[in-house]
Amino acid sequence: MTTAKPTRLPARPHFSSGPCAKRPGWSPEALAGAWLGRSHRAKGGAAKLAEVIDRSRTVLGMPADYRLAIVPGSDTGAVEMALWSLLGPRGVDMLAWESFGQEWVSDVTKQLKLDDVRVLDAEYGALPDLSAVDWTRDVVFTWNGTTSGVRVPDGSWIPDDREGLAICDATSAAFAMVLPWEKLDVVTWSWQKVLGGEGAHGMLALSPRAVARLEGGPAPRPLPKLFRLTKGGKLNETVFEGATINTPSMLCVEDALDGLRWAESVGGLKGLVARSRANADALQAWVDQRPWIANLAEAEATRSTTSVCLKLVDTLADPKRIARLLEEAGAAFDIGGYRNAPPGLRIWCGATVETDDIQALTAWLDWAHGVAADEAEKAA
Ligand SMILES: Cc1ncc(COP(=O)(O)O)c(C=O)c1O
Repeated sequence: MTTAKPTRLPARPHFSSGPCAKRPGWSPEALAGAWLGRSHRAKGGAAKLAEVIDRSRTVLGMPADYRLAIVPGSDTGAVEMALWSLLGPRGVDMLAWESFGQEWVSDVTKQLKLDDVRVLDAEYGALPDLSAVDWTRDVVFTWNGTTSGVRVPDGSWIPDDREGLAICDATSAAFAMVLPWEKLDVVTWSWQKVLGGEGAHGMLALSPRAVARLEGGPAPRPLPKLFRLTKGGKLNETVFEGATINTPSMLCVEDALDGLRWAESVGGLKGLVARSRANADALQAWVDQRPWIANLAEAEATRSTTSVCLKLVDTLADPKRIARLLEEAGAAFDIGGYRNAPPGLRIWCGATVETDDIQALTAWLDWAHGVAADEAEKAA
């Protein structure tokens, strides 16, 4: 069963689903221009923050009337800021099909304790029935479920004339998948995913309808300073121009700018999407030829092109053992399935990963599977 140990290692064995691989060619030199030891509110610092916002908007093709802010607390901070600030005036449909969606359900039911909540959920591998969503209500969902590798196929299920707000956690989708902005009222992401930035800060995009909700009246609950997006009943515009609510890491900011410049150099969003797609396709071509491994995502249209989650079938091999063998060999780091997900492997195929490295990895996966299966057979 065992196949020969490959000789060619991936040049960068970084396949973690977050923090994700740095962009090709990255070194700490990329941070040389960081605005350090100075106030982030001084002209130069404020300009860096505004540049992150501007470049992000441009690369993502965000409509001119959407607002974008850098917020504390990474993607979780951005999502929770939206939930706490916006929810209440309408009933809410919460969609969940893996760990992160479930976290947002827990926030809304157990912490916010909203009265009128419907949970539309599904097991790992599936999507809930998107046609059952009631768009007279607010809707909270994850574009790409990072821990199950299941994404919504597109935005066709979101009506243009919706009454509620579409609140979308897009952290492992932004910069790798096309987001239909006109269908989304709140979009959040972090820096450490598709562009390989550093963790700490979140990005929060708001549509004009989301802003109208914020300005329509105060949230029906106290909000900590960290969550406050309005001042005197009006949107605090300065936050959306780079005057962050509290102090950001200017080292992370410099790195985010480096990632954005790299994104532009590979053809912007189109180039980034193509890079992720090429990686996912290379991995899929290998999966399709192996009887012992399969996508966790049941439907092809819902397969993630970033966090590809795989399950083992008809084999005694333990995925944890495979992940450990590959880590020890220096062939792949951090590819065990998420702690709450069914046992399996999760391989990041985002834009900062090179397709050649995915190809090199597949030979190592064959090898590690052979070793793990042999060991399990002997032990049985
Ligand atoms: C879909 C999704 N939502 C939320 C999070 C949490 O993000 P953060 O750690 O940036 O707060 C993650 C992290 O992997 C994620 O994949």
